[in-house]
Amino acid sequence: MTAERPQPAGQVLVASNRGPVSYTRAGADGALTARRGGGGLVSGLSALGPDAGTWVCAALSDDDRAAAAAHGGRLPAADTGGQSVRMLDISPETFDAAYNGVANSVLWFVHHLLYQTPLEPVFDERFEARWARYRAYNRAFADALAEEAAEGAVVLVQDYHLSLVPGLLAKRRPDLRIGHFSHTPWAPPDLFRVLPDEMARELLLGILGADRAAFLTARWARAFTECCAALLGAEVTAPGPAGDGSVTHQGRTTRIGVHGLGADAEFLRERASRADVAERAAELRERVGPGRATIVRVDRTELSKNIVRGLLAFRRLLVDRPEWHGRVTHLAFAYPSRQDLAIYREYTAEVSRVAEAINTEFGRADWTPVVLHVKDDFARSLAAYRMADVALVNPIRDGMNLVAKEIPVVSERGAALVLSREAGAAEELGADALLVNPYDIAGTAEALHQALTLDGPSRTARAERLTARATALPPTAWFLAQLRALRPA
Ligand code: G6P
Repeated sequence: MTAERPQPAGQVLVASNRGPVSYTRAGADGALTARRGGGGLVSGLSALGPDAGTWVCAALSDDDRAAAAAHGGRLPAADTGGQSVRMLDISPETFDAAYNGVANSVLWFVHHLLYQTPLEPVFDERFEARWARYRAYNRAFADALAEEAAEGAVVLVQDYHLSLVPGLLAKRRPDLRIGHFSHTPWAPPDLFRVLPDEMARELLLGILGADRAAFLTARWARAFTECCAALLGAEVTAPGPAGDGSVTHQGRTTRIGVHGLGADAEFLRERASRADVAERAAELRERVGPGRATIVRVDRTELSKNIVRGLLAFRRLLVDRPEWHGRVTHLAFAYPSRQDLAIYREYTAEVSRVAEAINTEFGRADWTPVVLHVKDDFARSLAAYRMADVALVNPIRDGMNLVAKEIPVVSERGAALVLSREAGAAEELGADALLVNPYDIAGTAEALHQALTLDGPSRTARAERLTARATALPPTAWFLAQLRALRPA
């Protein structure tokens, strides 16, 4: 019913699993309290002004569901900072199956090459039930977007949680211009083929429902087009470094784009200059001790981030190069993530065990080799960024990795970057980083040594180039570039 649709010209909708606001019950009365998040989508959408955009997201917890139910799904402006947000009250069973059971346990694993045993994955009847719920969860988003979107609106669908949405939405609303953005790597065909055939095809066709599918790097964009050719027999033009590829299948063409999200220098520098960050920096300096170099890592405790091998590489540095004993401290901040999944809980425990073992093996009364923090604290992360001599970013595979871009911007010591060649960021920063094979512990240890011993002028010159590249496409420009690419000329 076109007449009932919202009408603002040039309306933009964003759809993502995690929205810009989450709720918790706070205070003695247990009142629902909103907490606003940050990130590229938040700054991008807010740059369009208060009336231009609507964000459709899922309720992620019981508190979110209660808030969504209390407001009929449309969150009050006071909670969202004026952003129009529709939070979908999807049943806990459907949400859990779609988010934990399919998106995080299977799609995330396939794209990040995390299957390591001959026993996983198992696509049995229980999995089929989860897949059915993933479809239902995607339908709930497509339904809400179809309701919310004005005639001819632009809809930007985010990530592997919502792969089926473009296809479902395009069928219902052919007037819309739909983009899909993948924030993860994309698996090459040999790995994508792990998925049951029908599911793999449905995921590709879902994304191909978009007018344009975009990725963080050309490598992931090419892998997607290769999957489309191999699994669907589609006709593809491989994207170059800036994108500009295409996939044609069953008479329909989807353009392929690349937008390498960069760090938000203005925000980071302002935030890092505040008093709470200075306070945390003083605490950390005290903990590290005078005159010691620092190797800094900050991650969600995520299997793909390869934190354990990073710790083992630091240990290997101490074994191979005893001259560093007492002269370097590893600040390892690993914040719990996806704790509903047993394998993430086990990994979180393993990170702590390995850090403790290194401290037991090498620590002295006046020196703690590894300072591990597991409680998320953004001010303390920025304080560590400021004092980083070396940034360690060694994921097994990563869509981009913004920490690799943020530390050079904030470091006051010209941080040298030890970077996994499998991180998307390596495509842009590789020339000035020390690239490592993330599985190679000895090689990573050697790169840490080189990073620690980079001389002054070379360190400064590299740090300046890293900062320039890392900030080339800040979040607002990244977002607007996607919009421009979807709007007719
Ligand atoms: C990755 C995904 C994002 C996701 C983030 C945090 O970066 O690409 O879509 O929001 O991880 O994961 P979470 O499961 O906590 O939302």
